[in-house]
Amino acid sequence: MELITVTPEEFAGRVVELIRAAAAAGPLNLGLSTGRTPVPVYEALARSGVSFAAGSYLFAPDEYVAAEPEHPGTNRSFFARHWPSPPLPPVVVPRCDAPDPDAEMRGLCAEIARRGGIDLLLLGIGENGHICFNEPGTPADAPCRAATLAEPTRAQARALWAEPPHRGMTLGVPNIMATRHAVLLATGEGKRAILTAALHGPVTAAVPASYLQRHPHLTVITDLAGLGER
Ligand code: GLP
Repeated sequence: MELITVTPEEFAGRVVELIRAAAAAGPLNLGLSTGRTPVPVYEALARSGVSFAAGSYLFAPDEYVAAEPEHPGTNRSFFARHWPSPPLPPVVVPRCDAPDPDAEMRGLCAEIARRGGIDLLLLGIGENGHICFNEPGTPADAPCRAATLAEPTRAQARALWAEPPHRGMTLGVPNIMATRHAVLLATGEGKRAILTAALHGPVTAAVPASYLQRHPHLTVITDLAGLGER
């Protein structure tokens, strides 16, 4: 694991530089998380001049299961607000209103596999330790699927949903572990306890982000000082 500690002011630029370097190497299969954490990154990307080679595939690793795609709480709406497209290529988001959400997510994962797998995956961490929508209790072999959202995740979603969805679609844990480079982003003191548990505690289904300790190429970028030594 590589731990990069930055100031809050440096955070977005540091992540943009990482994306720039990856995009310069050729067509990129890039997974882009949602949530508050990456918003400044996507805003900085808009001003950065980073471009993606033809054949790049940008996708969201999760989405709510919901009837209204245009609801402001969906990840589709998130990217409509925060992702600079154009000029950047659009982000493929699983359809929240797909008739069979399991099949919808499996389809996205099959497309990623057909394109050679994930080169770079930007991940956030939920305050309960989730990664994508792999909630506490998720086993290490859980596949791409639709899954029940934990109550803390639904509580967080109340910022945008009066009645948050009960389910979400998500990359599976093995798909996350198979990415060539996983980048975990965490900012703000509210993430200190869970990030410490994820990076330094036991590898456990109770904290799905702890599976990342076993990732062969993990970079953590955080503005939380003091997480390295333990
Ligand atoms: C949601 C997303 C996750 C994201 C998490 C963290 O639950 N499905 O992919 O990592 O939020 O959100 P935030 O950055 O707002 O703390």
